[in-house]
Amino acid sequence: MSNEESGTSEQTLSNLLKEDRRFDPPADLAAEANLTEEAYARAAADREGFWAEQADRLSWETRWDRVLDWDDPPFAKWFVGGRLNAAYNCVDRHVDEGRGDQVAIHWVGEPVDDERTLTYAQLKDEVSQAANALAELGVGTGDRVAIYMPMIPETVVAMLACARLGAPHTVVFGGFSADALASRVDDCGAEVVITSDGGYRRGAASSLKPAVDEARTKTDKIRKVLVVQRTGQDVTWDDDVDVWWHDAVGSASTEHTPEAFDSEHPLFVMYTSGTTGKPKGILHTTGGYLTGAAFTHWAIFDLKPETDVYWCSADVGWITGHSYLVYGPLANGVTQVMYEGTPDHPAKGRWWDIIEKYKVSIFYTAPTAIRSFMKQGREIPDSRDLSSLRVLGSVGEPINPEAYVWYREVIGGGRTPVVDTWWQTETGMILISPLPGVTRGKPGSAMIAIPGVEADVVDDEGTSVPDGSGGYLVLKEPWPAMLRTIWGDDQRFKDTYWSRFKKQGFYFAGDGAKKDDDGDVWVLGRVDDVMNVSGHRLSTTEIESALVSHPKVAEAAVVGATDEDTGQAVCAFVILRDEAGDGGEDIVEELRNHVRQQIGAIAKPRQIMVVPELPKTRSGKIMRRLLRDVAENREVGDVTTLADSTVMDLIQQGSSGAK
Ligand code: WT7
Repeated sequence: MSNEESGTSEQTLSNLLKEDRRFDPPADLAAEANLTEEAYARAAADREGFWAEQADRLSWETRWDRVLDWDDPPFAKWFVGGRLNAAYNCVDRHVDEGRGDQVAIHWVGEPVDDERTLTYAQLKDEVSQAANALAELGVGTGDRVAIYMPMIPETVVAMLACARLGAPHTVVFGGFSADALASRVDDCGAEVVITSDGGYRRGAASSLKPAVDEARTKTDKIRKVLVVQRTGQDVTWDDDVDVWWHDAVGSASTEHTPEAFDSEHPLFVMYTSGTTGKPKGILHTTGGYLTGAAFTHWAIFDLKPETDVYWCSADVGWITGHSYLVYGPLANGVTQVMYEGTPDHPAKGRWWDIIEKYKVSIFYTAPTAIRSFMKQGREIPDSRDLSSLRVLGSVGEPINPEAYVWYREVIGGGRTPVVDTWWQTETGMILISPLPGVTRGKPGSAMIAIPGVEADVVDDEGTSVPDGSGGYLVLKEPWPAMLRTIWGDDQRFKDTYWSRFKKQGFYFAGDGAKKDDDGDVWVLGRVDDVMNVSGHRLSTTEIESALVSHPKVAEAAVVGATDEDTGQAVCAFVILRDEAGDGGEDIVEELRNHVRQQIGAIAKPRQIMVVPELPKTRSGKIMRRLLRDVAENREVGDVTTLADSTVMDLIQQGSSGAK
């Protein structure tokens, strides 16, 4: 693999690897750390025994009789024969063990002072009510339920109610369009959708229900829509389909007996972009997933559930929200903060106000957010009391050393370890990360695989590369929270993740990485046609399909260009149809909005260039690396494999005036 493919230049890489700042774990944290150095050797000596020990953190109705069944790879079964209920583990268990009065969620709405606190006992009542209401709507074990919600407590309640019934949920990020919602509902066959009238964002009420109404015109699967009233805005109502949450859930009984399900019972499907236009429904099951989420949340954040206040800023609509806002933290019985809105409403510093008010001790966010705070300067966080913080986490994209050091110094007061956590929707849990009480932190490196996980960097043949070299990131052994398949598509599951190397049982993550001279891993970014914008995964093909679905577009090519704020940004090159002429003055804006409508605002291209040709090889493959050169204002690289080498001149002439 060349660095060009991974989107990182040789220059950037050698600068990164020259980084020589090191941060030792604080002595007091190390002394009391949940995991110590010995865990690595212990897990390596008996990996399955180690994971069995972690599964014992949960409450099982029936204990498993085999830790791992890997007889038919890549189809894994973990904790075979075990039976448990995920919602019981996240809620009831804490009440049964006498922690019912402990706060589970300090919910902070975007409008200032719009707050709500839920104890574990209250959460248990609400989850039970919602489970009864869903059962009343005909939801049974195995039925899929789509959740399309803002960041409000009912979203967590809805997920847990589904888990309680053994009805796999599929949460669709509220920023996705009606089209995206409809295609996901269709793919997994969800008959019930849980949504709200809207939510608050940047000081105004945004709407969600109209998108569900529109989705119903695009798929005939949806039978019932359960609607939470959050903003009180007007909604269109269909008496045959729509049901108010406050009616159905509000009137339901708080008594509900959770049934135990097989360890491999589907817990949820989370859609994520792949290299084709069709998102993949990543399937996670119950016992292994919950074990992995709970263990990593406890180990990597050094969680002390009795005293810590934890906050993960991710939206529940992404995997981070699933594993580290819902399942991990609640299985561990911690008190956490959940925030509805944006970091700068009503003013910059809102996040720091929340940390100060709730004395947050563990904070987990994304590099893109950190970079935007760096731009605002340190005066704002400096004027708040952030001394409660003791561990900081980062996720979603590589964290550049400057952002890491700023995060540690300015937000963490120079005391807090920063854990740079590498994982994916597919992995379900963090796999590569420092341990706050053990690891000597190195800004920019996710360091090494956590105990119980075997990661490596390999070459094209699947052979481990020596320290100091780059290659592909792989996982060599199964792990409990691994995806089990792609919903309805076992073949795509095998082809995408398990067929890249001849060696059986190697999981191909799709990331390029380098091992430095100490053997520590530096994740460089995707090696496939997947972009990472603000820590969110987007597929070039999906955006290209959206663009060519516009009547004026003949052809489109999309690349991820390096962006100071968002890591990567979407840059599109389009050829217009002859009959569209020059497309009109507002063609660029028209196309950007079209992408927004097709996929969602996060996919809206930063830049669209109308060009006369696209660079293609003789076999017709678009050479995205050349387009990336244009998008990043670099000198265009080697064009010798182009079918027509003059094309790049045309594109550059054409793009010079583009927005
Ligand atoms: C891709 C997975 C995992 C939750 C959020 C994203 C990139 C993720 C890191 C990190 C460098 C990272 C990878 C990965 N990524 N964390 N700490 N350092 N890159 O989940 O949407 O499934 O995306 O995000 O490229 O493959 P996702």
